[in-house]
Amino acid sequence: MTIGFFDSGIGGLTVLKEALQLLPQEDYVYYADTENVPYGTKSREEVRQHIFNAVNFINQYNINALVVACNTATSIAIRRLRQLYDFPIIGMEPAVKPAVNKTDDKRVLVLATPLTIQEDKYKNLVSRIDARHIVDSLALPELVNYAENFIFNDKLILTYLKKKLAPFDLDDYGTIVLGCTHFIYYREIFKQLAANIDIIDGNYGTVIHLRDVLADSKFDLKQGSGEVRFYSSGKEEIGKYKKYMKVLNHYKINK
Ligand code: SIN
Repeated sequence: MTIGFFDSGIGGLTVLKEALQLLPQEDYVYYADTENVPYGTKSREEVRQHIFNAVNFINQYNINALVVACNTATSIAIRRLRQLYDFPIIGMEPAVKPAVNKTDDKRVLVLATPLTIQEDKYKNLVSRIDARHIVDSLALPELVNYAENFIFNDKLILTYLKKKLAPFDLDDYGTIVLGCTHFIYYREIFKQLAANIDIIDGNYGTVIHLRDVLADSKFDLKQGSGEVRFYSSGKEEIGKYKKYMKVLNHYKINK
């Protein structure tokens, strides 16, 4: 079985990594729309067009399922994509529900891109789940660019995050949700800033969902060899993705 992965850039590699662990005998095609990254600070109309172009591109590789490994793209276009294509399409959802369920007497802080936070999909999710009004949201518009430019310098990122988090009293919070796949690269830095706060994301849940959807499909699982083919709309070469996969190993993203 061939599973397509699509993201604006390298954030989706954090999901691919989990998929390779859970479903090592499938084949993968990863497409990064690096010509147009970041999505999260653009207009919804512009991003919608980029997403349709990207999925049109990846569709030529005869994929049996697609993971939209990007929270912003999921918010903007997942419903329409499911109407347009007949293979299963799995999206990302910020892990707000598990966060609210596990947080008793404290608050939840969801970190995502500006576009994700302003979309109805996210607002509806929060209003459905947040009966106790404990969820706050914070957009981190620059973090995607830092990750895309391979900026993992702890000092610079810490300064940026401290400034963004300054209006929040972190003692009030029990859980932080990483609602953008690019933010996973900074998990360890978030931990430094919020040592007593649980930091969660939706990656593992997404991959479990992928496995369940595939198990219910008409295709045979375990037909591939764990091969990953990388494509992008930008000019970077394959080495870039290998470099990021190494960073993911370094940061031990898996729980
Ligand atoms: C971005 O391109 O802004 C990142 C998208 C995301 O993972 O939400």
